[in-house]
Amino acid sequence: MKFSVQAGNPLTCDTPALIIGCGAEPATTPFFDVVDEALGGVLARMYESKEFSGKPGTVKVIHTLGALPAQRIVLVGVGDLKEVTTEKIRRGAGGAAQALVAAKIVSAASLLHGVAPMAGLLEASLEGFSLGSHRYDRYKTKDRQEVMLKEVTALLTGTDDKELPANSVATVESVCNAVRMSRDLVAAPGNLATPAYLAEQAGEIAGRLGMECTILDHPELARLGMGALLAVGQGSRHPPRLVVLEYKGINDGSPPIALVGKGITFDSGGISLKPGAGMELMKQDMAGAAAVLGTMQAVAALKLPLNLVGVIPLAENMPDGNACKPGDVVTTLSGQTVEINNTDAEGRLILCDALQYAQRFQPSAIIDLATLTGACVVALGHNATGAMGNDGELLAALLRAGESSGERLWELPLWEEYGDLMKSDIADLKNSGGPHAGTISAGWFLKQFVGTHKWVHLDIAGTAWEDKGRHYLPKGATGVGVRLLVKYLQGIAGERMG
Ligand code: BES
Ligand code: MN
Ligand code: ZN
Repeated sequence: MKFSVQAGNPLTCDTPALIIGCGAEPATTPFFDVVDEALGGVLARMYESKEFSGKPGTVKVIHTLGALPAQRIVLVGVGDLKEVTTEKIRRGAGGAAQALVAAKIVSAASLLHGVAPMAGLLEASLEGFSLGSHRYDRYKTKDRQEVMLKEVTALLTGTDDKELPANSVATVESVCNAVRMSRDLVAAPGNLATPAYLAEQAGEIAGRLGMECTILDHPELARLGMGALLAVGQGSRHPPRLVVLEYKGINDGSPPIALVGKGITFDSGGISLKPGAGMELMKQDMAGAAAVLGTMQAVAALKLPLNLVGVIPLAENMPDGNACKPGDVVTTLSGQTVEINNTDAEGRLILCDALQYAQRFQPSAIIDLATLTGACVVALGHNATGAMGNDGELLAALLRAGESSGERLWELPLWEEYGDLMKSDIADLKNSGGPHAGTISAGWFLKQFVGTHKWVHLDIAGTAWEDKGRHYLPKGATGVGVRLLVKYLQGIAGERMG
């Protein structure tokens, strides 16, 4: 989607759709009155008849029938103007974008950012338009995205005298492109997005943006001793890979931040087979990997002055004659042994070798993202990512980035006592701790593979996929993690630059 920002007047703007922000009461937002007057009082009438309330999340499209050069007015509710937030604007823009896509409208102009004199509303609205209008259309031969929302112009009306940093539109564009790329990888079916395919995509991103990319395949993984990653992949015809991406944005010898993403390209459960209903959704089980790729793409495009390393273990979890079985014991890269009592707890197995590998880069922090546990969906639903770690400051910084990006996190405890759940009779650890505290016991398991490094684990099982479609999250992959991590990393880069 193409963004532009232009001086303009809502009364003379010739556009298929003019988007205006509306408060909880009529006539409270700029230009409401003049547009309402041009339309003969239709807007005020809509409030009166309660067809439109102006509440956050409400959107209404009306035709102007020639009363204005704009063919349609899109009313977007933002609620009480004293309580406007960037997230409300992002969601409002997302809702408007979904309405425009449904109506097959390709271009629009917007005043939404002007509802309140607050910094960041323009960027938030552009994010909402871009993310809300995105569709995965690779396999649609008939009804393609090409004909849907292609450009949005934010109108600067002179009353909104916000300072607009010259590059902020370009920044939003880079970040949204990365989120879209990440969503497309998650939405891609398992027969396309195999470990080899995702490794190839990583190489393509790296080549395009000047990053280093190393792809380790089966013989190298075996030579290194990644027994856990290999065990998960051994039941599949698509052998595992480990992708290592390096972004060097600063040359001062500062250690990288390591991003580790779970890349199970399809999770059947393996021999501990999952039930059939809904199993197709387990193509999303590489959303952590996609978030790392998206984040690295965005950070490289923005040329942030910091160093990053992305470590992405890729495997398909399938049952076959060679698959690992409940009761098997593997030796991980760390040397610790693990009894696999449930082959469906495969994410922590591929992650433990990747976390161990990430330590080779002596990172200042390790952040992993994984669609790790169904228990996280039970605990937090689809509105928060579960967060656990061993460093209060790192956690706090990520929680803050979650608030400002709208990709919220909620912390769960990682007390030592939870380790009791992961004791094996015959190995150092087992991989599944049973039904209690499923998200925490998985996090506790991962903690055994980060040494003394500062580390946070993000369980995105509830946030990587949107079942119904709402505001700027259309039905399907959300690309969660990209905006969160970019926000966090922008903060680090900002500190460095003073
Ligand atoms: N990939 C799943 C978790 C998941 C569930 C992701 C729902 C997205 C949506 C993971 O590999 C898994 O199967 N976890 C098991 C762990 C259990 C066997 C200890 C689970 O949550 O049931
Ligand atoms: Mn599983
Ligand atoms: Zn899984």
